[in-house]
Amino acid sequence: SLNLSLSVIAAYLLGAVPFGLLLSKLLAKRDPREYGSGNIGATNAMRTGGKLVGILTLLADIAKSLVPVAIAVALELPEAWIAAIAAASFVGHVFPVYLKFKGGKGVATMLGAMLPWQPLASLLGVIIFALLIWRFRYVSLASIGGAVALPLLIWITGGSIPALIVGLLFASLVAIKHAGNIRRLIDGSEPALGEKRKASP
Ligand code: G3P
Repeated sequence: SLNLSLSVIAAYLLGAVPFGLLLSKLLAKRDPREYGSGNIGATNAMRTGGKLVGILTLLADIAKSLVPVAIAVALELPEAWIAAIAAASFVGHVFPVYLKFKGGKGVATMLGAMLPWQPLASLLGVIIFALLIWRFRYVSLASIGGAVALPLLIWITGGSIPALIVGLLFASLVAIKHAGNIRRLIDGSEPALGEKRKASP
């Protein structure tokens, strides 16, 4: 329907807003694409602009998908519609029209899209993420771990088929977007959490 199409387009355009880039430029006068991993996500916004910029980016990138999905859930829209809105927010972040489709890795936006819709699976995913950070100190490794676990968590917590499909989409795109991180984790050059060392792009 027209309403669904408009909601999906709105969710995409909101998801595409690059808060990491905007906040780094606004608060630190720096472009995260020229620092660290070159990514516009919270991890690299923190490398670029410090803890506050990192935390604000994390919250904004979560909120930009959480708000539209929470509205869809509150309105008790059909699962397939919620799925379309959740996927659109995420695709917006990863492939933003405003940045020639060169966006982020989707981790925070994935969490925001899943929290209001699959709260238990999301919390379990966050626990896996936190345990991996605590044990290994690599945000990328923890992100990949949490993302790859997500479809399984959605399934064991009784999520619908649309939720499972979106979980699989998130897991595969997050993993693909971390290709450079995976290479660096293997050759030992991935910077650990809080490390400022420049990563080869
Ligand atoms: O938020 C993405 C995170 O998993 C890795 O970011 O900048 O270290 O590639 P980055």
